[in-house]
Amino acid sequence: MQVDVLLGLQWGDEGKGKIVDVFCPKYDLIARFQGGPNAGHTLEFDNKKFVLNTIPSGIFNEDTLNLIGGGVVIDPIILKRELDNLRTAGFDPVGKGNLVIARRAHLILPTHQLLDAASESKMGSGKIGSTLKGIGPTYMDKTGRNGLRVGDTTLSNFTERYEKLKAKHLEILSHYGEVPDFSEKEAAFLSAIEFLKTIPHVDSEHLVNRYLKEGKSVLAEGAQGTLLDVDFGSYPFVTSSNTTTAGACTGLGVAPNTIGSVYGIFKAYATRVGGGPFPTELEDETGEQLRQLGHEFGATTGRARRTGWIDLPALKYAIMLNGVTELIMMKADVLDTFEKISVCTHYKYNGEVIDYMPYEIITNQAEPVLEEIQGWNQDVTGIRTKDEIPTALHDYITYLEKALEVPIKYLSVGPDRTQTIEL
Ligand code: GDP
Ligand code: IMO
Ligand code: MG
Repeated sequence: MQVDVLLGLQWGDEGKGKIVDVFCPKYDLIARFQGGPNAGHTLEFDNKKFVLNTIPSGIFNEDTLNLIGGGVVIDPIILKRELDNLRTAGFDPVGKGNLVIARRAHLILPTHQLLDAASESKMGSGKIGSTLKGIGPTYMDKTGRNGLRVGDTTLSNFTERYEKLKAKHLEILSHYGEVPDFSEKEAAFLSAIEFLKTIPHVDSEHLVNRYLKEGKSVLAEGAQGTLLDVDFGSYPFVTSSNTTTAGACTGLGVAPNTIGSVYGIFKAYATRVGGGPFPTELEDETGEQLRQLGHEFGATTGRARRTGWIDLPALKYAIMLNGVTELIMMKADVLDTFEKISVCTHYKYNGEVIDYMPYEIITNQAEPVLEEIQGWNQDVTGIRTKDEIPTALHDYITYLEKALEVPIKYLSVGPDRTQTIEL
């Protein structure tokens, strides 16, 4: 068996949570491989709506095991809150035994969040626009070899090591100015660490590889999007992990030759939250229309998402980096009322017309070359089969498949589980 991967091809919030939830009955294991509670994965079914930050989106299927992989960074307070919310809604993954955590996953400390906030406020207008969840500083401690991991919580020297790392953070924070009181947060953190011990800790590399050997199916769930990848995104306006297929290998401990299908998710338009370049951004009425119709407000922070037209050079780049084998187009319904839809086919850059994403688009802007496509002008939220797809939407799909050279296998026409069409 192979590991299938599902990940975002744009700047995050493509609808990963919804599709993982739709796919999960086909899989024995769903494994989140990177990121942390900067993610907000929304799923809707039976008139209920859930937003998951750390927990994989296969959690509502009791027959699927859900793994928080070693490449993830965990805020125990947020994880506990997510599980409390699920319990209130009648779901109990810990009791049912369908949630496990990798020992190698790193812990986000309260002081990591203070460092994130201090760093962002120091940067002023050039700030990244991080989610302030402590993601960057936690991954810095991971690569700096200072971090604390889930497996450390059961060791006798955990408190000592926590105090040591905290002291280091406080010293750095003192250079930024006065350190705010975080005693309440610290108490909540230490209590959540005790709670974390009640969730089974596993060696994710052995678990996933055993599943593969036993012929069980595995889906790796990405967070954020390819254009936020720390190596290939619009650096420094990126997150601090590898959001690409390669991140599934390092985040779970699976070899590259075990990767099977790679499902790349994208919206029928584009959004971005936080700072950084966004060549097709619309700062006009059309952009506002996309924001309102698409409810483009962050699932984690509530911030208004920036909106714009679909960007083919950026999507081609993401497809190449990830080895995407199948595409999934989300939120087609948001374009239902548009007479015309624009598509960015090329960029004008340094006086040339190019069809790829250049290295430098921060100081030297890439100007989008747009092509107009006929809209379908019809409500598609009620359609459930491919035969019902309006001709103009069908043409849009065919146009994109031709340009991207990868088949679009699923179409999403609304936030609910049932609003998903296999093509
Ligand atoms: P994720 O981070 O990739 O899981 O995506 P988010 O949950 O942050 O954002 C996607 C948003 O779009 C959520 O509010 C979903 O409920 C919603 N959504 C998902 N698919 C569709 C769709 O096809 N149409 C519409 N209108 N909304 C959708
Ligand atoms: P999901 O998984 C959209 C963005 C932040 C910021 C940058 C760095 O829901 O798609 P960080 O807190 O990671 O240091 O912030 O990355 N960002 C996201 N944008 N969706 C996400 O996750 C994101 N996670 C981080 O807005 O610009
Ligand atoms: Mg999201």
